[in-house]
Amino acid sequence: MPLNGLLDIELRAPDPSALGDFWMRRGLGRTDDGVYGTADRPVQLTIAESDHRHLGEVHLSCETEQDLAEIAGRLGDLGIASITSGTTLSCTDPVHGHNVTVDVGEPPALRAVEPRPSNRPGHSGRLTERADAVATRAEPRAPRRLGHFVLGTPDLEASQRFYVDGLGFRVSDQILNGVATFLRCEADHHNLLLQPGPTAYLNHYAFELDDIDAVGAAGTAVLSERPDAHLIGIGRHTLGSNVFWYLTDPAGTAFEFFSDMDQIHDDEAWERDHGRRDWEGSDGPAGFSAWGPPEPPPEFFDPPDLPAIAAARAARGLA
Ligand SMILES: [Fe+2]
Repeated sequence: MPLNGLLDIELRAPDPSALGDFWMRRGLGRTDDGVYGTADRPVQLTIAESDHRHLGEVHLSCETEQDLAEIAGRLGDLGIASITSGTTLSCTDPVHGHNVTVDVGEPPALRAVEPRPSNRPGHSGRLTERADAVATRAEPRAPRRLGHFVLGTPDLEASQRFYVDGLGFRVSDQILNGVATFLRCEADHHNLLLQPGPTAYLNHYAFELDDIDAVGAAGTAVLSERPDAHLIGIGRHTLGSNVFWYLTDPAGTAFEFFSDMDQIHDDEAWERDHGRRDWEGSDGPAGFSAWGPPEPPPEFFDPPDLPAIAAARAARGLA
């Protein structure tokens, strides 16, 4: 498994401090200037200034220096330049233009959280006390880790070549005859989703939370300060199985709070029994959600500021 981690991403936005303050109110700490994270993972987001919102950098990890050399070789075969310095490889996403850095290492371990006591038919796990979600509702739990990001791309083939054939992301599922591709570099069903877009843009980024109560409480807290931030949720996705709630951040980028995503620990078993290159019609769990809103609103795939993003990119000679 050459790639083994999505470590952090850099967001660029016209008002980085407003975006950083927003994430601090969600429970992330500012662990350095422009760097946000948690005690478990001090670096999850970096935020810097730009004239428009976009992804600035993706930071990945791989297991060995040999993996790094093989990534450099594969990128070279695709005609994509990279620079390796010590145990770090740097290159540029050929479609989006953001930096991609791969370090030899692995994501910092996460402190495990015990499931909260619950009651269900035939089983009483919480006796004579209120649910924890009720007792602690004044304090939404902080995001635990940056889990995935989603790119809208005007050149799906080139994006797939770069991330799959070059960097080595593995395909978990594809839908609509390969139009949207769910990729992983960890055990998560997806750490990256590539989907079509009229211009190259960051569709959303996603933080994993402890459980569905944490997702609900964190989303509700966002709405209490920004009632128009709601995008779609709460529901459970079909592909990835994760509980989701999508909202927008102060820069206008969609983000997702999620929990309980499928974990793929046996690549071969997944390929044989579950991985599909073409979920279509009723032959498989196609569709946006297993329960919850069946379809996202139009602005989910077509954010209102896309023309402005396209114009800013064109001014820099980017597609
Ligand atoms: Fe997502």
